[in-house]
Amino acid sequence: MRTTLGWQADHAGAALRRTSLRRRDLRADDLAVRVDYCGVCHTDLHAVRAHPGEAPLVPGHEFTGVVTDIGQEVTRFAVGDQVAVGNIVDSCGGCAMCEVGQENFCHEFPTLTYGGTDRRDGTTTLGAFSREYVVRDVFAYPLPAGLDPAAAAPLLCAGITVWEPLRALGVGPGTRVAVAGLGGLGHLAVKLAVALGADTTVISRSADKADDVRRLGGHDLIVSTDERQMTAARDRFDVVIDTIAVPHDVSPYLKLVALDGTLSQVGHLGTVTVQATDLLIGRKKLSSAGSGGRPATAALLEFCAQHDVAADIELLPSARVNEALDRLARNDVRYRFVLDMSDLQWEGS
Ligand SMILES: NC(=O)c1ccc[n+]([C@@H]2O[C@H](COP(=O)([O-])OP(=O)(O)OC[C@H]3O[C@@H](n4cnc5c(N)ncnc54)[C@H](OP(=O)(O)O)[C@@H]3O)[C@@H](O)[C@H]2O)c1
Ligand SMILES: [Zn+2]
Ligand SMILES: [Zn+2]
Repeated sequence: MRTTLGWQADHAGAALRRTSLRRRDLRADDLAVRVDYCGVCHTDLHAVRAHPGEAPLVPGHEFTGVVTDIGQEVTRFAVGDQVAVGNIVDSCGGCAMCEVGQENFCHEFPTLTYGGTDRRDGTTTLGAFSREYVVRDVFAYPLPAGLDPAAAAPLLCAGITVWEPLRALGVGPGTRVAVAGLGGLGHLAVKLAVALGADTTVISRSADKADDVRRLGGHDLIVSTDERQMTAARDRFDVVIDTIAVPHDVSPYLKLVALDGTLSQVGHLGTVTVQATDLLIGRKKLSSAGSGGRPATAALLEFCAQHDVAADIELLPSARVNEALDRLARNDVRYRFVLDMSDLQWEGS
């Protein structure tokens, strides 16, 4: 076994503490990656706050780093390559979803970067709030030249989660897109929709985000708490990407969807209650998405390199991870915390 350092929660709501972690010895198709940067996703916050405390929880599932060692059958990567890894580290590879490159929908459920069960040895995966991660080569992506490795890290969860629905819903020049909730996912949805040529609006509780919306390339801001603005925007958007991190009534957002348009709810993944008439009137569709398959993830990274898209980040030393989680809970981030792991001593090869 290899050892490294990371940040672990021992029970629900516990502050993360720095501890020594084990990583498996490399299998033939594994890479060892020195984690340089890892984004802090709201899912990490949900996981830490809800953690039952039976197994160690090390969050972190959007990271970039450098390959430090390769298994004997690895040909796609060499030591020294810059790579990016997201929230899926394995899948069955043989089901209908894996065969079409939607490993995120694997019938055997994809192995998550943390809190997942390794398909070969049954251990619980530990995430990338740590200095080293060992990953199957096919779930690592070359980081395209030109992308800043810190600002690119959030593309691997926040970015791909909004990219798949934008692409699947055919967003392109002239599509009227609204993004509800301007946080980590939301600000990347805005940048990507704008880069795809869409006419892009933000729906936020915060009127003071108007300058940010313009800076991100968005065309308009609707303040969700202002009934007059919400009423005026009825039937206005072909696509609404809802990234709101809490349970909420989708009805006011469905009213903004245009005839035959779609609301994709990617933020809150629990029960959603819908009035059928909110769909009936305007033949509207309610959809969802999560993470991405390997081809889409690779395509996203290429697109971002070409269009100069990456996250707006606040970079913190990893020792400030608890402060990052607290501020994320207070909605005090514009727009993604990324942890710099260089304050964790490198113990690898
Ligand atoms: N589908 C997936 O695979 C997937 C992947 C990653 C994350 N997620 C989930 O997506 C959600 C967003 O993640 P994130 O990292 O983007 O979080 P985030 O940075 O905290 O952003 C969430 C946004 O939701 C809005 N919001 C928060 N609390 C709200 C409330 N009480 N009422 C109304 N709006 C509220 C805020 O926007 P405004 O202040 O602008 O209103 C906030 O910026 C989380 O629930 C996360 O678990 C899902
Ligand atoms: Zn995430
Ligand atoms: Zn599968």
